[in-house]
Amino acid sequence: MTIKGLDGAANSAAAAHKPAHFKLENLIRPNILSLEPYRCARDDYQSGILLDANENSLGHSLPPNSVIPHNPGSSNGATPVQSTEADDPLSLNRYPDPGLFGIKDAVAELRGVPNDAFVFLGVGSDEVLDLVQRVCCRPGKDKILICPPTYGMYSVCAAVNDLEVVKVPLITEGGKFALDVEAVNKKLAEDPDIKIAFICSPGNPTGTLIPPIDVRQVLDNPAFKGLVVVDEAYIDFAEEEKRMGKRPAEEIVSAVSLVHEYQNLMVTQTLSKAFGLAAIRLGIAFAQPPLVQIMNNTKAPYNISSPTAHLASLALSTKGIAQMRENVQTLIRNRDQLISALQTLPGAGAILGANEANFVLVQMLDLETRSKPDNDVAQMVYKRMAEEMGLVVRNRAKDLGCAGCLRITVGTEEENKRCIELMKGLLEGGK
Ligand SMILES: Cc1ncc(COP(=O)(O)O)c(C=O)c1O
Repeated sequence: MTIKGLDGAANSAAAAHKPAHFKLENLIRPNILSLEPYRCARDDYQSGILLDANENSLGHSLPPNSVIPHNPGSSNGATPVQSTEADDPLSLNRYPDPGLFGIKDAVAELRGVPNDAFVFLGVGSDEVLDLVQRVCCRPGKDKILICPPTYGMYSVCAAVNDLEVVKVPLITEGGKFALDVEAVNKKLAEDPDIKIAFICSPGNPTGTLIPPIDVRQVLDNPAFKGLVVVDEAYIDFAEEEKRMGKRPAEEIVSAVSLVHEYQNLMVTQTLSKAFGLAAIRLGIAFAQPPLVQIMNNTKAPYNISSPTAHLASLALSTKGIAQMRENVQTLIRNRDQLISALQTLPGAGAILGANEANFVLVQMLDLETRSKPDNDVAQMVYKRMAEEMGLVVRNRAKDLGCAGCLRITVGTEEENKRCIELMKGLLEGGK
């Protein structure tokens, strides 16, 4: 297979050969497979008088003394393009450094993949989810598979890309939301037009981790020639539970552990959740180098901005990771308190899912008998809290298996207390 721009040595040293039934070049759309990686003069020459890229030679137009963070220098292995402006440490008038300040290396090290050739960076994981559909699926012909209730963007991207969405629900009985491996594999075997199966782990809005052992069963399905994408936006909450002794230390929670083995796997993550950097829009995909190269060949040049790369490199420093872990531990403790409070709140019903992320999915019960989940009550609580009390949660009552459910993001202790107080008032006061 020739993937344009792929470093042959890195690829042959790193690439997996499993599973035998998968051929990347048969999956990728031919027009995408023939793309050359974007190249510019800056790939070859980064210093001197730079008159190659039609940038603004006078510098940026921000007012004097605007606060701009300092670049991280070469301490993490990258040398950003130098600025001639003293007040422009990020060289904002220049296109971003394609080396991305070493953040791919930092991410590879953090997640334990061999090197940066296994890492793709996107504008949030939302860009990755869209791009992977674009490289694999022919508009108007191909399909994706999702497992509802799940994150809405898989279907939004499918609509944009003119792809049909095939649904195989999670096993919703008992509110556990396990992957129905058998049904997924059956559907994938029946329909060769399905090119990608999306698995969300921990799920949104379910909060339930899908064990890598289940993912492996889909990867090994010889009748499925497509790609499995595991969306791990919330994985750090499950990872941290191990460090806190809340789950076995030896448990493998992330499907990144399978990336070195399987060519038909992509795992997406993000700095938007555990790292608390939703504003910078940095999403990550882990996959074997040929697929990463194809994604790189297809993306817009310079999709990651210098301010984003700079802030991400700080977040991925040793201190940044320690801070992230501390914050996640605090959120896990707050989540457990929130769950306890909801469990004793009259009018609140079952807490669904496994609570392995930074939100809780809780049923609102009917006001008369308090015996069954009630969508009207969920809507009433949702609307009145938002409109009259200034506290916004998410109404997920219409999602499959989530009747009467609100999804509450874990807040600070005070925010959570306030949420419980308001819900108590509304559930006692009725309509
Ligand atoms: C499951 C899941 N995946 C992806 C995303 C999007 O993440 P990003 O901010 O990286 O685009 C979200 C955001 O809520 C999410 O819940």
